[in-house]
Amino acid sequence: MSARTPLRLAGEAGFQSAIENLQSKILIDSFGRVHNNLRVSVTDRCNLRCTYCMPEDVTFRDRSELLTFEEIATFVRVAAALGVNKVRLTGGEPLMRKELHKLVRLLVAVPGITDVGLTTNGILLEEQAGALFDAGLRRLNVSLDALDPGRFRELTRRNGVEKVLAGLAAAKRAGFAPIKLNAVAIRGFAEHDVIPLARYCRDHGFELRFIEYMPIGAEAWERDKVFFAAEILDLIGREVGALVPANHDPSAPALDYAYRDGGGTVGVIASVSRPFCAQCNRIRLTADGKLRNCLFALDETDVRGLLRDSPVPESAVADALRRSVWAKREGHEINAATFVKPDRTMHAIGG
Ligand code: GTP
Ligand code: 5AD
Ligand code: SF4
Repeated sequence: MSARTPLRLAGEAGFQSAIENLQSKILIDSFGRVHNNLRVSVTDRCNLRCTYCMPEDVTFRDRSELLTFEEIATFVRVAAALGVNKVRLTGGEPLMRKELHKLVRLLVAVPGITDVGLTTNGILLEEQAGALFDAGLRRLNVSLDALDPGRFRELTRRNGVEKVLAGLAAAKRAGFAPIKLNAVAIRGFAEHDVIPLARYCRDHGFELRFIEYMPIGAEAWERDKVFFAAEILDLIGREVGALVPANHDPSAPALDYAYRDGGGTVGVIASVSRPFCAQCNRIRLTADGKLRNCLFALDETDVRGLLRDSPVPESAVADALRRSVWAKREGHEINAATFVKPDRTMHAIGG
């Protein structure tokens, strides 16, 4: 089934009951996309202020509004019964949530969950890498856009690149593999950082991925500010080493390339020039307990109320999840005149 053919147009006999039967087992949307990948934001707080992500002055949610670890684990149990097997913890900066390793431990124990990952800015990683690894976390993505301290400060409005580098080294020592490094590429800026980042990752065995700049931050976005994936690959191919396409998982956002000389891989997340919405398998839970069926969703479904009921009405949580997934739009429409930017910026959604 192509993601362009809404299932509800199929019009087969018994269609409704067939869908209900499917929905009792898997999270399927009206375009036939099956959702197994849950991104859980654990906080909207951050110790950086990346210009493309959030404003300098921001009011964070009161801690009482955030889901507790137990509430998140209950939600994940319900989602796992509906086929979710991958969970990625995000923020804000997830390591600002105290004792995050305890949540990891709860989640790796959920039946059906086979993969728990974390996306962090790395500032607090040095002190937490060992505990996270011991708790069962294996896949780690670290956001780092510039190696030069001055350029890092310009982009993040804070100091700390040396802490991120120490965090990456600690993560390697702790045994994490793979370690992916994510860099947002903004035209007029990233041109200076692409080559040093590519060399650094080749030398240290990190999987580098460049992300096209998306209209989800606090600043005014223009297409002209997107440093496109094709340009990045061209630059690396010329200056660092020849690249060839590598195999990749069609539902993963990154298109991977390998250095011809065996020096590792580089990926591009081309959300603007090559949207991956047709293969999307993601749903999101915000730190304050709202379900979002797309990074760019304009509607949310509250599940915190249900998760705070006693006893938790798990079948109502499952229904909310099914309905949210079914209502998912075809794609993000960044490239269309009809695009509407969500009210929340990235730090409050979950990266
Ligand atoms: P793995 O494939 O599990 O390693 O993780 P990932 O690449 O999905 O996760 P990561 O948090 O590293 O995501 C990298 C970047 O991809 C994010 O920072 C976003 O910029 C972008 N991204 C993640 N999810 C979505 C999504 O649903 N839609 C779009 N358009 N971009 C996304
Ligand atoms: N465009 C693309 N990626 C973004 N991120 C934050 N804001 C944007 C944006 N406007 C990504 C960062 C980080 C994660 C938290 O979200 O790369 O990896
Ligand atoms: Fe914080 Fe990450 Fe957003 Fe930067 S991109 S402000 S590190 S949440």
